[in-house]
Amino acid sequence: MRIPIVAGNWKMNKTVGEAVALAKELTERLPADPGAEVVVCPPFTALYSVGQILVGTTVLLGAQNLFWEEHGAFTGEVSPLMLQDLGVRYVIVGHSERRTILRETDEDVARKLMAAFKARLSPILCVGESLSEREAGQEEAVVARQLTAALAPLSAAAVAQLVIAYEPIWAIGTGHSAAPQDAATMAAVIRSEVAARFGNAVAEKVRVQYGGSVNAQNAASFLHQDGIDGALVGGASLKAVDFAAIVQAARR
Ligand code: 13P
Repeated sequence: MRIPIVAGNWKMNKTVGEAVALAKELTERLPADPGAEVVVCPPFTALYSVGQILVGTTVLLGAQNLFWEEHGAFTGEVSPLMLQDLGVRYVIVGHSERRTILRETDEDVARKLMAAFKARLSPILCVGESLSEREAGQEEAVVARQLTAALAPLSAAAVAQLVIAYEPIWAIGTGHSAAPQDAATMAAVIRSEVAARFGNAVAEKVRVQYGGSVNAQNAASFLHQDGIDGALVGGASLKAVDFAAIVQAARR
């Protein structure tokens, strides 16, 4: 049985004060046993303060990125050990906004995954195709390439703990989510790619999220698909009432 996982990616939103208020409201709205793992990923600047709010709650702290070195002359980067020190449990790796806007490569993503596991942070690996790739029928090949590169250096034990978010780029922030059936098809593709490299037992442990314009209204249609174990939520995670409703939809 895979435990559902719903994560909120707050992206580059919220001052410390706003982030604390959002985290407080969310913890108040969630039931004592939410029936899913719940993760919030504030910007780096709010991690400490939000972490203080989450102590003693069921909500886990996540980060949106990390660097692959532990310390040194890497101006502007944040080390896995610094995240670990703040009580961070999950870290998003390879988000499409970092791949496209910040030019992160598949190799960078692989290094970050290794660094996350080394620091005992659980990575949420993002994969997904662009609109032109989907229109050319290349979505499966693109996701397979991203997975091959990212998973190559990892052990089977590490991969079994992985959360993989299928986030088609064309669905992110557009209000045009994927069709739930298409998302389920891609979740199956992801699981079969993992099975091909690491075997069925590992593939059955990997949790696959869908992300891309998930909201309180459509969440259940994704979360009730076979093989979709949760959601990675952007915009709708910025409102506690909406995010709490999405968590509720993940309950099995
Ligand atoms: P939206 O939910 O705003 O489409 O963002 C999805 C996403 O990128 C989560 O990482």
